[in-house]
Amino acid sequence: MTFLPSAHELDQPDSVYDIVGVGFGPANLALAIAIEEHNETVAPDQRLTAAFLEKQPSFGWHRGMLIEGATMQVSFLKDLATMRNPNSRFSFVSYLHDKGRLVDFINHKVLYPTREEFHDYLRWCADGVDHMVRYGLEVTAVEPVAGSAAPGPVREVEVSALDVDGAERATYRARNLALGTGLVPRMPDGVVRSARVWHSSEFLHRLADFPVAAPRRFVVVGAGQSAAEVADHLHRTYDGAEVCSVLSRYGYSPADDSPYANRIFDPEAVDLYHGADASVRNRLMEYHRNTNYGVVDIDLIDELYRRSYQEKVRGENRLRIMGAAQVTHVEDEADGVAVQVRNLADGSEERMTADVIVYATGYTEPDHAVLLGSLTGACRRDDSGRLLVHRDYRLHTDETVETGFYLQGGTEHTHGITGNLLSMVAVRAGEIRASLVARRHAPVTVPV
Ligand code: FDA
Ligand code: NAP
Repeated sequence: MTFLPSAHELDQPDSVYDIVGVGFGPANLALAIAIEEHNETVAPDQRLTAAFLEKQPSFGWHRGMLIEGATMQVSFLKDLATMRNPNSRFSFVSYLHDKGRLVDFINHKVLYPTREEFHDYLRWCADGVDHMVRYGLEVTAVEPVAGSAAPGPVREVEVSALDVDGAERATYRARNLALGTGLVPRMPDGVVRSARVWHSSEFLHRLADFPVAAPRRFVVVGAGQSAAEVADHLHRTYDGAEVCSVLSRYGYSPADDSPYANRIFDPEAVDLYHGADASVRNRLMEYHRNTNYGVVDIDLIDELYRRSYQEKVRGENRLRIMGAAQVTHVEDEADGVAVQVRNLADGSEERMTADVIVYATGYTEPDHAVLLGSLTGACRRDDSGRLLVHRDYRLHTDETVETGFYLQGGTEHTHGITGNLLSMVAVRAGEIRASLVARRHAPVTVPV
């Protein structure tokens, strides 16, 4: 694969970037690729300048859940580029070709590669746009450019970032931002993480440091894909340990990936959703939540059930699926964690001691406007307090701000269920790029 010269352009002190990306997960990586491809085909004065800031020391995509054998929940054709540009050199097929595995992959007859392989693909793409990225920098503040007393709306912002030790402070000036900081792990109210109380997002990191060689019991809370993968991994890895899965449903339920329902992830669905009124949007979200939330890939459900049944044949019960149940109390003790589980049907309580409890209780969207400091108040909201977002993913701001704040995530309420997923990242990146180009030439108004 050949890349543009990767002279590090990011440290030129007086640069004002067309766009600064906060976070460098798949969403902003797809945008970097879209910008790279644009810059390869236009005259130098038409190029977009971009810098992406990522707090991790190197590229990483949900590394804490990079469980061996876990597969993607989306077709490899929904990679970072193909849906926008099927000829892209950043496609998954180009990656396979570059790695010398294209023929092997075809013979494999797989539509959903392992997360391990897709992670390697993402990293390969990230290497291809390395000249736009600074790792190890956490964005801490966004403010209007200091000292600009010029009248009129805010046109440029200053993005401040700190390195991991808090020692280095870097500042970037931008005409636009792409906020792609991802989701925030959700713990139940009142539950605090500790050495034995984990969230699934940190699962493999915690497990790597886990001091107990022969654990006796794990408790896993939740009924989504993360919960099932964590339970599966613990059950496979520790053959002397009991794994108790506590779920409020009666049992794991399959993700709806049937073809008509799957259309909710299509680009056209975003147009429809964005144009619909709030009641229709809410209804569509409720109808199709089970394509993604609180559901599990059917192959994994079948595999877990196969193991449960095999244990029954042997008179064992190491994989305990505690359905219609809820954890009501958790307390760290000297050599374990005390867990109380209530059966929601009959109200009975069971108390047990576990080595670890893993909360696979999902994620919440951050309020992106919080990062915008004194500009937060310029962001318009709906009656429920949610941010209003234009079709081109820009936050609605009042007349005091002209800088574009593009949301790469956190748009489920305005653009639909793909807001935080991979399905739309390639197309969305193209749409944001088109908006950037259009606004560069006519910066005051852009039709939305
Ligand atoms: P993502 O969370 O990936 O990236 C955000 C980045 O921003 C992170 O690298 C973070 O370090 C960085 N960051 C945060 N704050 C920052 C700051 N202040 N300064 C600098 N950097 C900052 N979806 C799907 O469609 N198919 C799938 O197969 C999967 N699989 C999957 C597996 C697992 C285990 C999870 C938890 C989730 C998925 N998902 C998924 C959903 C998932 O949201 C999606 O795959 C992408 O991670 C979304 O990419 P983003 O870039 O939006 O966020
Ligand atoms: P999720 O789908 O949101 O599921 C969270 C689960 O936790 C639900 O069962 C929920 O139950 C339960 N829960 C939430 N709050 C709770 C509480 N306070 N007490 C008890 N239970 C609670 O989250 P996820 O499984 O982490 O999946 C998130 C995303 O990551 C999805 O897009 C998924 O596809 C993706 N993912 C993909 C892979 C992969 O690609 N292999 C792996 C893991 C995750 P209720 O529904 O009853 O609230």
